[in-house]
Amino acid sequence: MEMLDLIRKKRDGGEHTPGELAWLVQGITSGRIPDYQAAAWCMAVYFQGMSPREVKSFTLEMAASGIQLDLSALPQPVIDKHSSGGVGDKTTLVLAPLIAAAGVPVCKMSGRGLGHTGGTIDKLESIPGFQVELSWEEFIRQAQAIGVALTAQSEELCPADKILYALRDVTGTVESIPLIAASIMSKKLAGGAGGFVLDIKVGNGAFMKDLEEAKTLAQLMVAIGKGAGKQTVAVLTNMDQPLGRAAGNALEVREAIAFLRGEAAPDLLEVTLALGAQMLKLAGAVAGLEEGREKLRRLLYSGRGLEVFAKWVAAQGGEPRVVEKPEMIPGAPVVRPVFSPGRGFVSGMATDLLGQVVADLGAGRKRKKDIIDPVVGLVFHKKPGDPVEPGEPLVEIHARTEEQALTAGQVVLQAIKVTEEPPSPKPLIYGYIV
Ligand code: URA
Repeated sequence: MEMLDLIRKKRDGGEHTPGELAWLVQGITSGRIPDYQAAAWCMAVYFQGMSPREVKSFTLEMAASGIQLDLSALPQPVIDKHSSGGVGDKTTLVLAPLIAAAGVPVCKMSGRGLGHTGGTIDKLESIPGFQVELSWEEFIRQAQAIGVALTAQSEELCPADKILYALRDVTGTVESIPLIAASIMSKKLAGGAGGFVLDIKVGNGAFMKDLEEAKTLAQLMVAIGKGAGKQTVAVLTNMDQPLGRAAGNALEVREAIAFLRGEAAPDLLEVTLALGAQMLKLAGAVAGLEEGREKLRRLLYSGRGLEVFAKWVAAQGGEPRVVEKPEMIPGAPVVRPVFSPGRGFVSGMATDLLGQVVADLGAGRKRKKDIIDPVVGLVFHKKPGDPVEPGEPLVEIHARTEEQALTAGQVVLQAIKVTEEPPSPKPLIYGYIV
């Protein structure tokens, strides 16, 4: 087989055989196929797409390109949650202890983030002492002992995706639905869970800006999961505003602790219950979604979720007293409010722009090697639909320097729209793909 023939076939709209895709993925992983040919093939896929059969074979081959975790030592099935990413998305931080408290093990490999803020790993690292590199044995033993373990994604997981994603990133081919679906689902499948709940975010702060496009991606990902014999559900959730009250690594951990103490922002609570109920249902821990939501509410308001969170932090070397004293998590030296310029209602938030402010303050990475600043970010005092008076704080900026805070404040004012009339409310959950 020649790579040139496969590139031509895809360029001309042909369908690859499973054998061709296996050959291609092995060639990419071993380095036999040079980057320029792999990149040309990605561009051909970008324009021609892939059939569902092709996407399934391609995903399974990528999942098998490196190590595949065996979670059989844990009570089955382990259900994993994935979010397509958005501003202020700290649902894993609150869901992991709640699901574990419900008796369903949470065994999660998480990547470091690129973009607005760090990933879950970066957020947890803002807790003094928290270790994110667990050996495989430690990972399983901890999940057996306390029901929850989280580790940084192994370099050996899906090496084919790692190579292709880096190429897509610099060749304008990230935005291809079959390539995105295969990239995400290959890593999920290699992670060894028996089922997946996929949170596909839609809106001006999400990867997917358009509901129809997000639905197409969700349907494809669900089909891949089911095709691989895993229970898979997708939830389409609103990302036209940051989720919850904070964006920024340490600020999000503080918010997660407040949440688990019962002070939950309504939107974060709703998304957490929607995703968590699906997880409990797939795990067979509840008969229906309403029972799942009720169970999660009980675990939240009884403080059981917070207890498990403290055990989780301690098990990974972190300071568990942060649950009583969140101020033990480092804070920013400069905290400045941004005041509303007028009276009316918050009618819109340019969430991508707010995410950019957070990243520019230092909370996110532009390149993989960048070091993030855990303490910086934004706290949102007002969300769409809230009434505001002139001079009331809209947002609080957490920065390293006065100059940074000043620059961030100017952009925040551009990103938040205040109008005389309230906006028409948008749903938080757009729907489910099952
Ligand atoms: N996240 C991934 O892991 N892969 C993609 O292709 C896009 C987002």
